[in-house]
Amino acid sequence: MNARYTWLNGEIVETARATVPFLTAGLHYGAAVFEGIRCYDTDRGPAVLRLRAHLERLLASARVLGFRDLPYTIDDLTDATRRTIQANQFQACYVRPVVYLGDGGWNLTIDSGRPRAGIAVWEWTDYLGRDARDRGVRANVSSFTRHHPNASMTKAKISGNYANSLLAKTESVRLGFDEAIVLDPQGYVAECTGENLFVVRGERIVTPPSATVLEGITREMLITLAADAGHAVTEQPLSRDQLYVADEVFVCGTAAEVVGIREIDFRTVGTGRTGPVTRALQDAFTAVTLGRHPRSAGWLEPAS
Ligand SMILES: Cc1ncc(COP(=O)(O)O)c(C=O)c1O
Repeated sequence: MNARYTWLNGEIVETARATVPFLTAGLHYGAAVFEGIRCYDTDRGPAVLRLRAHLERLLASARVLGFRDLPYTIDDLTDATRRTIQANQFQACYVRPVVYLGDGGWNLTIDSGRPRAGIAVWEWTDYLGRDARDRGVRANVSSFTRHHPNASMTKAKISGNYANSLLAKTESVRLGFDEAIVLDPQGYVAECTGENLFVVRGERIVTPPSATVLEGITREMLITLAADAGHAVTEQPLSRDQLYVADEVFVCGTAAEVVGIREIDFRTVGTGRTGPVTRALQDAFTAVTLGRHPRSAGWLEPAS
């Protein structure tokens, strides 16, 4: 966490001063929503990937959680994101906006508190480890189940929801894996703790339907990049053993980017190496982030 400055409730402040009171309902009840966004060092300077889509999802998450009147618009938060990156003079960084329940909220209703907001940035690479992109990672199917969609809203990045990801990933990492794959309440494959998942079998690319997973923005970009390359992606329920017999399995997310899974539950996936479809999508995605892809102009917003 190396940033000198953070945006908090409308002001850029020294990160050391970007604190919230201990008595904040957002902290006690997980009553907060957040985003994970990346700013990339492109050929034309720092640029944020899908900034508007992420901020729209932030406000959608706030609506799902029940916040009614937010003090900031998408334009305010766009400006605040740019200002925070500029203040820290970062060329590339991770961006973490949070809207949290402050000033009350103790009786477990959103309406009895007030929404507050902050944006932190930090330099962060290699979310799943230094070798993840080239070698792929090892995963297991978690003993923890993804939320039932009517228990905790899977479309929203609600902070409290992430206790589920934390439980699953902690268990998997303690068992010696790099990531956890979580099943939905019906027993079908949902996603990973912070990534969406795709399976390649022959010419087909399949991903779980969006009903029980986070509608990932990287997922959406990869579906587009796959279509550009002539691969249709089908959304369909996937069973655990369909992972075992896949030619390739890969995951994607803002933090992890595009990473192959080389082993699941002690079974080698495909050749055990990052496969050709995963590699092609990784390369296309990297080209997007460097500003060198035909899709770059539409997806990158200059931060300077
Ligand atoms: C549970 C979960 N699934 C999928 C994703 C990937 O979403 P995105 O590509 O929008 O980062 C994330 C990360 O935000 C996540 O937390």
